[in-house]
Amino acid sequence: MRIAINTGGGDAPGLNAVIRSAVLSAEARGWEVFGIRKGYNGLFSGDPDGVVRLDKKAVRGITHLGGTILGTTNRGDPFHIPVKQDDGSIEMVDRSGDVLAAFRNWGIDCLIAVGGDGSLHIANQLSEQGLKVIGVPKTIDNDLAATAVTFGFQTAVQIASDALGRLHSTAQSHRRTMVVELMGRDAGWISLFAGVSSTADIILIPEIPYDFNRVCDAVEARYDGDDGFCIVVVAEGARPRDGEQIIKEIYPNTAGRPRLGGIADTLAAQIQERTGRETRSLVLGHLQRGGEPIAYDKILALRFGAAAVELAEQGQFGCMVALHPPNVSAVPIKEAIAKLNLVPVDGDVVRTAKALGISFGD
Ligand code: F6P
Repeated sequence: MRIAINTGGGDAPGLNAVIRSAVLSAEARGWEVFGIRKGYNGLFSGDPDGVVRLDKKAVRGITHLGGTILGTTNRGDPFHIPVKQDDGSIEMVDRSGDVLAAFRNWGIDCLIAVGGDGSLHIANQLSEQGLKVIGVPKTIDNDLAATAVTFGFQTAVQIASDALGRLHSTAQSHRRTMVVELMGRDAGWISLFAGVSSTADIILIPEIPYDFNRVCDAVEARYDGDDGFCIVVVAEGARPRDGEQIIKEIYPNTAGRPRLGGIADTLAAQIQERTGRETRSLVLGHLQRGGEPIAYDKILALRFGAAAVELAEQGQFGCMVALHPPNVSAVPIKEAIAKLNLVPVDGDVVRTAKALGISFGD
């Protein structure tokens, strides 16, 4: 058996742990493993190192490393490759046929595709075209419904929670309102978990559109005359009841998924103008994806890597490994990408936050 691994979409802490675990599990079965660099690009970019042999030596000492040794891209959809035309315009070209041909040329029996929602959509399309694929769910956003949790999420929460904790002292010293923007796309998981665990005062998430007047009331409630401070956590995908998400950029080939961002700046300016409270904004950004995974994500990623190889051995192609506590099991990729995992607005974490006096601006 000869298998390949690739990592696609935004990186997430734990990718290298998946790679190491899958490689060692496969080698233990006498299989050969190849890594495809930069999503699928390594297969058809002409890069002589686009496909690399992964053996025990290649994956030594990488479990704790952030990022991915294979590189990744969130603009590598082989079904939509931007190609510059003679007149300067860009046209999308379907190069999935080249991808399938490259797999055949390399004699690859099965692909382990490690990715989030977007990358798993691509994996599913390739699977429908006959490629034997096993999916592994990755994303700090935790927005895949078929698994209890994705690896990378808990590390992102920890990083964000630590950062929010540090803001308390400076906010208090200056009696400021701090508005902190966290990642997550259309899901508010990172903001909710980081905000509640670090005792934020206001948490704004995409699932609960906010009323700006209520946000300002909640800010004011944190002050007593000149004293007080306020920590506002805002998910990048949050929006006011009567407004839209703030889009930073639209990439031509990301299946219509825009890059979100900018709400913290906008909201901070609005809060300062309305309340007169000195307000600062901060975007935590890609720090949430960087560095060593916490132990929870390392273990989850190692389990996913080993389970992916078990599924390949059992011939369960077209499936994704998923955590269904206490076990890791298999779900069809098609099912896994059918629904996003969003924060239930009346779930116990939101209720706990409200019981603690945290406002959602609703
Ligand atoms: O999906 C992971 C994620 O970090 C999102 O939370 C965020 O919206 C997006 O990726 C950022 O993408 P990029 O790395 O292209 O800025």
